[in-house]
Amino acid sequence: MRTWLNHIHHGDCLTLLAQMPDATADLVVTSPPYNLLNSSGNGMKNGNGGKWSRAALMQGYATHADSMPHDDYVQWQRECLSEMMRVLSPDGAIFYNHKWRVQKGLLQDRTDIVDGFPVRQIIIWQRSGGFNHNPGYFLPTYEVVYLIAKPGFRLAPKAGGVGDVWQIRQDRGNPHPASFPVDLARRAIAATTAQVVLDPFIGSGTTAVAALLEGRQYIGIDLSEDYCQLARQRVDATVASLEAAADVPEIPTALEVRSMLTAPTRTAAARDSDP
Ligand SMILES: C[S@@+](CC[C@H](N)C(=O)[O-])C[C@H]1O[C@@H](n2cnc3c(N)ncnc32)[C@H](O)[C@@H]1O
Repeated sequence: MRTWLNHIHHGDCLTLLAQMPDATADLVVTSPPYNLLNSSGNGMKNGNGGKWSRAALMQGYATHADSMPHDDYVQWQRECLSEMMRVLSPDGAIFYNHKWRVQKGLLQDRTDIVDGFPVRQIIIWQRSGGFNHNPGYFLPTYEVVYLIAKPGFRLAPKAGGVGDVWQIRQDRGNPHPASFPVDLARRAIAATTAQVVLDPFIGSGTTAVAALLEGRQYIGIDLSEDYCQLARQRVDATVASLEAAADVPEIPTALEVRSMLTAPTRTAAARDSDP
């Protein structure tokens, strides 16, 4: 367990997950590569100009092209989900972020990936900021988060009240081309009592940062050593800021200051008469 906990591991997630004992993690929060460059339209396919030429993901990831044949991609993601289920504790769950899109004029949801897995709920991540305008359909402004839960999974007390539409702004200023916001991962983690949070596609380390901010432990995996280094830097910065915050002496409240100032002080004469 020690070798896994609180580390960002460089490697292929299927290879590394296969080495992980059963029930290593209580929760998975993850966003896989979406296979965006295997697309029927929107100029995503060849990048020869058009609005997508500016998109960060136009080149794929550092070490993953994001353009697998669709059936291979689905098969790969199903294997990844099976391994995630295996390494989850019996009351664990997976928050699996993905994106629906239109392909050849028809909606491509991700049923083919999650079919047969115990999907308990679909959370809408309303993130706005889409830019793939298309005359055939409305501008997409949300992504989905599949809550795939083992039978024993329960939310933390009162956590369900937040509802199933999460309005959270997209991540900004992150050098990773497809990071999700810390607040998205934090909301998922905070809604559970999980102690160990795994992300097998950790990218820039967002899930680890969120886990630390929520006082939990993390395990991260990514295929790109560059992203792993970025993730480690963000983790170190988060740990440093949490430690700095813990060092700040408690500031007295206004009421406490007032009572300190008005408290009767002993006179010098009284002090001198002490035995
Ligand atoms: C959508 S991004 C995750 C971004 C992350 N949520 C963040 O906030 O930074 C998907 C990640 O999967 C990684 N990846 C691709 N193939 C992988 C594999 N076989 N094993 C592990 N990671 C892989 C990519 O390098 C990329 O960083």
